[in-house]
Amino acid sequence: MSYRIGVIRGDGTGPEVVREGLKVLEAVREGFDVDLVDFDLGADRYLRTGETLPDHELEQLRLCDAILLGAVGDPRVRPGVLERDLLLRARFELDQYVNLRPIVRYPGVQTLVPSHAEDDVDLVVVRENSEGLYSGAGGFHRKGTPQEVAVQESINTRHGVERIVRYAFDLAGSPARRGKVTLVHKTNVLTFAGDLYQRVMDEVAAEHPHVTTDYVHVDAACIYFLDDPSRFDVIVTDNMFGDIITDLGAMIQGGMGVAAGGNINPEGVSMFEPIGGTAPDHVGKGTINPLAAIGAVQMMLRQLDEDRAAARVDRGIRAAASKMTSMRAGEMGMSTSEVGDLVVEGAS
Ligand code: IPM
Ligand code: MN
Repeated sequence: MSYRIGVIRGDGTGPEVVREGLKVLEAVREGFDVDLVDFDLGADRYLRTGETLPDHELEQLRLCDAILLGAVGDPRVRPGVLERDLLLRARFELDQYVNLRPIVRYPGVQTLVPSHAEDDVDLVVVRENSEGLYSGAGGFHRKGTPQEVAVQESINTRHGVERIVRYAFDLAGSPARRGKVTLVHKTNVLTFAGDLYQRVMDEVAAEHPHVTTDYVHVDAACIYFLDDPSRFDVIVTDNMFGDIITDLGAMIQGGMGVAAGGNINPEGVSMFEPIGGTAPDHVGKGTINPLAAIGAVQMMLRQLDEDRAAARVDRGIRAAASKMTSMRAGEMGMSTSEVGDLVVEGAS
């Protein structure tokens, strides 16, 4: 058995954290091989050739069993180029319609919310990842004039909403979860998109009598993340709300350095990434936290049904986290590679 893993190290601290992720992958794999295929994509490539994600490479990515991504974005490149034309293009073209973002606080980790008990924070955000405000629909009218109009449209299809809601219910009903789905939206103001989401929720709920449901407005969800996170098991939400609340979610895990995510196409190729970005201030210093990238490897192993190896990574992450002084870059009490080594040690 051999998996073809596409590796996009990307920009900023991406390569540093991917290195640790691959170190852990090599340490935990048993009974299968990995064939790593490096993709030269990101700011350097763009500045050199003007290319972000050429069709040929997109086709090569499609042939992988999974993709591991470090981070994209660079101060030398106009904002939006790499984000839209590389990261979002990959998510959309590969139809990775689920952005799965577990929010877990590992034992011993301090966060900014001292009132949280040790195991209060254990939820998963199922972020719609293929449409909404991120679809790129809209445009300018009279650009650059005092009468300028900028329209950015939120696209919500029956098909798109239904598949993400169904994914959330299936996940909530699985043995790993606690059987509850909360829709997070803004149905009191976004009365078209919100209404579609709520109707689909109600229909799918009727087919899943063993899953309990709840609804929370997105602004109130931010309060609950701080005040009562244990009310959440599986959250389903649209693309932009999911983007925003998962940054807050990272903070109740201890920091962006520990937050991992998967861009999942259940029928195709999925792409796993630390969600924290490129951290330009930490490049080359060995101060970035690799646990998010290692968590991305863990999610990748689960998606490949390599549960034993994934469980080993989980043990390793927990062991390392309990020995670090902080999850935040530069405050870990050890270097990037030392964290990776601790995960390897704890994973055995
Ligand atoms: C994330 C990021 C991306 C997003 C950006 C870089 C396009 O913020 O993965 O959360 O908005 O999805
Ligand atoms: Mn984000």
